[in-house]
Formats: sequence, structure tokens, C-alpha cells
Amino acid sequence: MKHIGVIGCGTMGLGIAQVAASNNHSVFIYDSFPSAIDKARINLNKTLQTLFDKEKISKEKWDQIIANITWCIDLNEFKNCEFVIEAIVENFSIKKTVFENLSQIVSDTCIIASNTSSLSITSLASCVKNPKRFIGVHFFNPAPVMPLVEIIPGIQTEENSLTLSKQLIASWKKEIVVAKDTPGFIVNRIARPYYGEAIRIYEENLASKEYIDQTMKKLGGFKMGPFELMDFIGHDVNYAVTESVWTAFYFEPKYKPSLSQKRLVEAAYLGRKSGRGFYNYEDVGHESKDIELDLEKSTMIFERIICMLIHEAADALYLEIASKEDIETAMCKGVNYPKGLLHWADEIGIEKCVSILNYYYNLYHEERYRCSAILQMMAKSKITFFNHNVSVCL
Ligand code: NAI
Repeated sequence: MKHIGVIGCGTMGLGIAQVAASNNHSVFIYDSFPSAIDKARINLNKTLQTLFDKEKISKEKWDQIIANITWCIDLNEFKNCEFVIEAIVENFSIKKTVFENLSQIVSDTCIIASNTSSLSITSLASCVKNPKRFIGVHFFNPAPVMPLVEIIPGIQTEENSLTLSKQLIASWKKEIVVAKDTPGFIVNRIARPYYGEAIRIYEENLASKEYIDQTMKKLGGFKMGPFELMDFIGHDVNYAVTESVWTAFYFEPKYKPSLSQKRLVEAAYLGRKSGRGFYNYEDVGHESKDIELDLEKSTMIFERIICMLIHEAADALYLEIASKEDIETAMCKGVNYPKGLLHWADEIGIEKCVSILNYYYNLYHEERYRCSAILQMMAKSKITFFNHNVSVCL
């Protein structure tokens, strides 16, 4: 495939266009707002300048990337595209109009993909002529840097569209995982307890945010604690993802958003980008304060959060959202977890994970802590994720 179309030249669209252009595709990028195009051209040049200054690209490569991109103010310029990725505002009715228009322009065999984080691929596929060629390709921000791409066939997507999409994205040197079309796909679903359980511990006043952050870094080896990470992602984005996963799962209690985070959004304390979130970034050195951790307390915090994450990963496997290997790759490459959660479960011991989850279930009597069938059956049969064939116990 030579001609690639990208719709939307905001954060994600521009990043994806840069990736495709760097891999020698002829890229057509369209945005309905001319000012967004002007801004994107400036941003791309700034990015390429930085890469050049760091000696990551040559001047020839820089020129080649720029030459490979055609900035479009008319979607009709996409008529020869063989693969189009949509990365516009996360709004179903706006995306629907764009897909309906695009369907009239490109050929019936052109693969149409969406970078949506939260909308159903199946519902978007129904907006195009020939939904068999529609697919989800979910990049992570920043697209040129993050190695992971989740590929999500909708129920209408045919095998050949999946194969071609995998080939194309793999040729861009990305790590591919395939996910079932369910809310949050793999990463945004499995990662929820890292934020939600940490906030819950904090709201219950069992530990401070600094204490929880340091626990997860020191005991778990995570690069950032949950509160630092939420501040980094931005509470508007992180809260919106949690709320959309919770709503899309028919208000499943384990994904319930928190009032603490909602209040931050209401106050426009969005995290690093606004100077204040859970932490105040004007208060220099707040993060470096080293806290002496009490082993019993920090172990309790670590085990509670990690078991909720393991539980989510195990459930995703049980519900066939993705393969064992893809679940591990997704969490290590999409959110930089120090190791895969299913390997972590084997290391901690499945029986121990089950007993920790049961402890919280008995304590709170809340659905949030009910233990997945897969973990219970594995504990009973004494099998692990990687030394046994898990399906034997199901
Ligand atoms: P953004 O707000 O940075 O960019 C959206 C762009 O779409 C803007 O340039 C806007 O002018 C353009 N646009 C709006 N309506 C349009 C239309 N009708 N036709 C053409 N262009 C239109 O948004 P961002 O962050 O790049 O997100 C884009 C998509 O990628 C969303 O679906 C989002 O859920 C998804 N996504 C976002 C990630 C992130 O971290 N920002 C990560 C992964 C996926």
C-alpha cells in the first residue's frame, strides 16, 4: 500500500501521519479546520527539528518526510488512498458524517480505520459502504514514540482486512496486539484499577497519594505511581476514559469513576499541563520527598492494587478479549508496566491473588471485588498461566 490517508491533524492524526511518512508512504492528511492544518505543519516541523538536533534523523530524512505529506483541505483528494485512518474528535455523530462522506470518495476496497479510544468499532463500521473493510487501529500517544498499536476488528470486519492492516502497521515497526471490540479494548480496560484502586485507598484515608505512589514504584517497579501518572495523562482524559468504560459496560461497579478525580476536572486541575492536579507543580520538589515505607502497610497497598490489575487481565483472557501473549505485550508496551500481569500472577501465586480478592470482597461486600471465575478455577486446579494450558481448568 502506497497511499495512506489520515483524517484529523490534531495530536494523534499528526503523529500517525509522521509515522506513515517516515516509512515512505505518500500521506494525505485532511482536517476540516484550516487553522488546525497550519498548527500541525508548524508542530511537525518543530518535532522534526528536535529529532534532527538529537541526530535521530538526517536533513534528507526530514525533507523526505515533509515531501511525503500532502495537506488537504478537500477530502476528495483521498480518492486514491488504499488505507485511511480517522483521528478526529471523539464524537460518534461527527465521525459518522465523515465516514459517510469518505465512503463516497474512496474505492470499496480501501481499508477504513478509526483510532477511536472509546467508540465501538462495530458501530463505526456501520457508517461506511462495505463495512467488511472497516477496522480499529488504536495508537498510543505520542504515536511516533509509543511502540504499541491495538488492532480491533468489528463484527463485520473480514479476515483479509485484518491481515492487511496487521501487515501495514507491522511494516511501520510497531508491536501489534489484536483485541475484541469491547470497551477500552485491552490497555484502557486492564489499566483501570491502577488508577481506580489507588484513588479508593486514598479516599478511604488508608494512605496518602505520595505513599501510594512510592509504594507502587518501590515494591512494584512501576515507572510512575498512579497519582503521578494520572497527573501526567491529564485528568480530563483519564477521567473521560474511566467514565466511558464504566458507562459502556452498563455501569459495571469495578470501573466506577471517583468523585476525587471528578472534582479535579471541575476545578480545571488537569495535572501537569495545568500546573496542578493531585500534585501542585508550582511546589518544587514535591515528588522527590522520600517516604520511609512501612513494610506491612506498603505490602497491603501494593497487593491490593496489583491483584485488582491481575484480576482485570485474567478476566480479559477469560472473556477472550485478547490472547495471553497480547495481554502481556499490551500492558508492557502500551503503558510501560515492568512486567506482564499474568506472569506477575504466576509469580505471586494464583491462590494468593484469589485470597486477597476474597478478603476485600468479604470486607466490603461489593461487586467490585468479586473474583473472576478463571482465577477461582485456576486456584482450585493449582495451575498457572504460563506453565499450564489454562483452558484445561475451564
Ligand atoms: P485532537 O483534538 O488533538 O485532534 C482532533 C482533530 O480533529 C482536530 O485537529 C480537529 O480540527 C479535527 N476535526 C474535528 N472535526 C473534524 C471533522 N469533522 N473533519 C476533519 N477533522 C476534524 O484529538 P486527538 O487527541 O488527536 O484524538 C483524536 C482521536 O484519537 C480520538 O478519537 C481519540 O479518542 C483518539 N485517541 C486519542 C489519544 C490521545 O492520547 N490523545 C490516544 C489514542 C486515541
